[in-house]
Amino acid sequence: MNKLTIKDINCAGKKVLVRVDYNVPLDERQRITDDTRIVASLPTVRKILEDGGRAILCSHLGRPKGKVVPEMSLRPVAEHLADLLDRPVKFAADCVGDEPTQKAADLKDGQCLLLENLRFHKEETDNDTEFAKQLASLAELYVNDAFGTAHRAHASTEGVTKYFDKAVAGFLIEKELKYLGQALADPKRPFTAVLGGAKISGKIDVINSLFDKVENLLIGGGMAFTFFKAMGKEIGQSLLDEEKLELAGEILEKAKGKKANFHLPVDCVVAAEIKEQAEVRIVGIDEIPNDMKGLDIGPRTLLKYSEILHQSKTIVWNGPMGVFEVDKFSLGTVGLAGQLAKATDNGAVSIIGGGDSAAAAIKAGVRDRISHISTGGGASLEFLEGKTLPGIAALTDASVKV
Ligand code: 3PG
Repeated sequence: MNKLTIKDINCAGKKVLVRVDYNVPLDERQRITDDTRIVASLPTVRKILEDGGRAILCSHLGRPKGKVVPEMSLRPVAEHLADLLDRPVKFAADCVGDEPTQKAADLKDGQCLLLENLRFHKEETDNDTEFAKQLASLAELYVNDAFGTAHRAHASTEGVTKYFDKAVAGFLIEKELKYLGQALADPKRPFTAVLGGAKISGKIDVINSLFDKVENLLIGGGMAFTFFKAMGKEIGQSLLDEEKLELAGEILEKAKGKKANFHLPVDCVVAAEIKEQAEVRIVGIDEIPNDMKGLDIGPRTLLKYSEILHQSKTIVWNGPMGVFEVDKFSLGTVGLAGQLAKATDNGAVSIIGGGDSAAAAIKAGVRDRISHISTGGGASLEFLEGKTLPGIAALTDASVKV
């Protein structure tokens, strides 16, 4: 990694501002339903506290658009973090101003403070200079460990770094870049990418960029139907990204001249409605009934994709193969997760990005058998697209003396 990391610094006696990504799902009673991102931040937080540093953690949660939205408060996260760390975590009801400034100043060595949701101020997403300066004034060192937000040039990820002598990466960012960076720079081959999800729009850049890097590109999920429509097939009531139809056609054309094998499903599970009691049928891709929609890949597709996975040495997966939240339409996605785990057992390096695919790995009970599950959805996609992530670019180069 060509950036300074937390390993390079000693935090003893220092106030350290740490940008974490605690954008975690909450239920209607503000209980955390998946704490993966909080757990993933622990090595960095622990290192600061064990060094004898004072950790001042900041994050966003949801998209409150510059307003205080009580349901998006980080307070429940402070409580959960305290349990995980097995020590108290103080909480400031704002991220800038008198209260957080006082609480940060009162911290003792080895103590931890979490600030309220950064996005309660619109200056955060505006990357406002004054706001960034105020945040920076709370601490003497800056650590970014929010990989999931590294693709955003916001005040807490980018602007703030200008006001610190050194801005370093945390352990999570280091780990994410190790896996994702290696997959792109020096993958063991064959290299296969599996892309799914509802919409083709968010995946176009990554498809274009992976064409030149992988041997196999496997497509699933709702977005496959826009490709089928572009091929002139009847897709019944299946999801169609009308605006991207032309682009889908262009990708299909492009696929012909590329070294990567571009695969679309050969069959799918169809139903009239997305519900557990729905009557389902498995049909070939040319046989989708007019009044039904494709909601999962079919068994022949799963078999074909599995064979490709088992010949692959590096596999990147982003996006589900169907509406896997509903059990009846989950077999393709969950089955694929299982095959990915098997391929990993047999020596492949597997990387999952995006909350849905990660949830599918959990549903399949194979989370621990995947080489790396990224905490970044959009961030991991942008990284795979070859884009520079502003939150990482802004960190201090490793060549700088500590
Ligand atoms: C995510 O969940 O992908 C990150 O926390 C970034 O959130 P955002 O898309 O609202 O910027």
